[in-house]
Amino acid sequence: MKKKTSVKHVSKKYGPQTTAIHGGEPARHGVGAPVGTPICRTSTFTFSSTAEMKLWAEGKSKAYIYSRYGNPTLAVAEQKIAELEGAGAAVVTASGMAAISSALLGALKCGDELISTAQLYGGSYRLMRDLFPDMGIKVHQVGTDLAGLEGLLSPRTKCLYVETPTNPTLRLVDLDKAISFAKKHRLTAIIDNTFATPVLQNPLAMGFDMVVHSATKALAGHSDVIAGAVAGSKEWMKRIQHMVIYLGGSMDPGAAYLLIRGMKTLGVRVERQCANAMTVAKFLDKHPKVARVHYPGLVSHPDHKLAKKQMRGFGTMLAFDLKGGLPAARKFCDRVRLFLLAASLGGVESLVILPIYSSHYNMSLEELKHANVEPGTVRVSVGLEDAEDLIADLKQALA
Ligand SMILES: Cc1ncc(COP(=O)(O)O)c(C=O)c1O
Repeated sequence: MKKKTSVKHVSKKYGPQTTAIHGGEPARHGVGAPVGTPICRTSTFTFSSTAEMKLWAEGKSKAYIYSRYGNPTLAVAEQKIAELEGAGAAVVTASGMAAISSALLGALKCGDELISTAQLYGGSYRLMRDLFPDMGIKVHQVGTDLAGLEGLLSPRTKCLYVETPTNPTLRLVDLDKAISFAKKHRLTAIIDNTFATPVLQNPLAMGFDMVVHSATKALAGHSDVIAGAVAGSKEWMKRIQHMVIYLGGSMDPGAAYLLIRGMKTLGVRVERQCANAMTVAKFLDKHPKVARVHYPGLVSHPDHKLAKKQMRGFGTMLAFDLKGGLPAARKFCDRVRLFLLAASLGGVESLVILPIYSSHYNMSLEELKHANVEPGTVRVSVGLEDAEDLIADLKQALA
C-alpha cells in the first residue's frame, strides 16, 4: 500500500491498527478479564427498582433497557468505528442499507431535496429512485466530477450524498470540492466510505457530517455477517440512534461480535488486499482480451491523481470490461475456480460478479450508462490469497 505522509490518519492517541484492536474495548488489566470481546447475548436488561426505571424513562439514566436501544457489545463496535473514523460517536445497524436509510432519513424530511452522485451502490440508488419520491424527497443526480452542482440547488436542498470510490467502476469524487460546496450551501454532507474504509480515507476530518458503511464488507471482512454503521458528531449520532430505534434496523449482538473481531485485523487485511488488487489490475491491464481496467491505482485511470491526493492507498476493488462484452464476461465468470462467483465484497476470499446481475439489476440501459456500468463489466473484490494463485486463476479463466 502506498505510504503518504500528507494524508494522516485521524486518531491522535494511537495509530490506526492499535485503535482497531483496542478501541472501544473495556479495560482488561485486572485478574481474569476476558481478552476476547464478550457477546452480551440478551434482548433485555434488569432494573433494581421502579425508581431506576423511572429515571431511565425520564432520560436521567444511561442504563441499558433493551437491545434495540443499546447493548454493551454494540457499544464496543460503535466506539471502535468512531475512533477509526475520527468521529464523536457511531451507531451500528443491522445492514449497510439500514445505516444509509437511517442517515438519510435522519437528515431529510418531506419536501426536502437531496443531491447525490449518480454512481452509487445499486441499493442506495434504488432507495432514492423507488422510495424517496413517495416520501416527498426529491433527488437530483450529479456525476462523480460534480459538474453543474450549483445548477441543481434549490432553497429546499438539504443534503449532499456521495460515494467514493464508486461501486462498481471505481470513479472518485473530489472530497475537497464536495465539502466546500456542502459547507457553502449549508448542506448535510454524507459519504458512503465502504470502498475506501477508514484505513484509506477519513472524510469526517475533511468536514463531512456523516460517514456510512456497509460493515458487511471490509470492516467485518470475512463474508460471515450483514452489518452497517454510521459515524459522525455526538449530536448527529443521537439523531441517528433514534432513527434506528424507530425504524428497527438495530444490530444483533452476535453480529456485533463478528464485526469487532473482523475490525481488529482491518489494517493488515486492507494493506495486503490493496497490494493484491494492484497486481491483479496490472495483469488484467496487459491482457489482450481485456478492453479496460477500472482501478484507481493505474496511471491510466481518470482519477489516479485524485486517488493519490485524497487516499492512502488505491483500494481492494477493481472492475474490468472484456473485449467480447457480456458473453465473454459470462464465460469468464463461469470459468473461475479460485475466485468465487458471488455478490458482496471486502472479505478475505476473492470474488467476481457481473453488476448487471447483482448490485445493478433492475436498471435500464440508460441508468447503467449513468452508473458507468457496461453490461459486460466484471467487478472484482480482491481477497487475501497469494497473488500468484489469483493470477493463475485469471489466466485460465481468460484463456
Ligand atoms: C458501497 C456499498 N454501500 C452500501 C451497501 C449496502 O450494504 P448492505 O448489503 O450491508 O446492506 C453495499 C452493498 O453491497 C455497498 O457495496
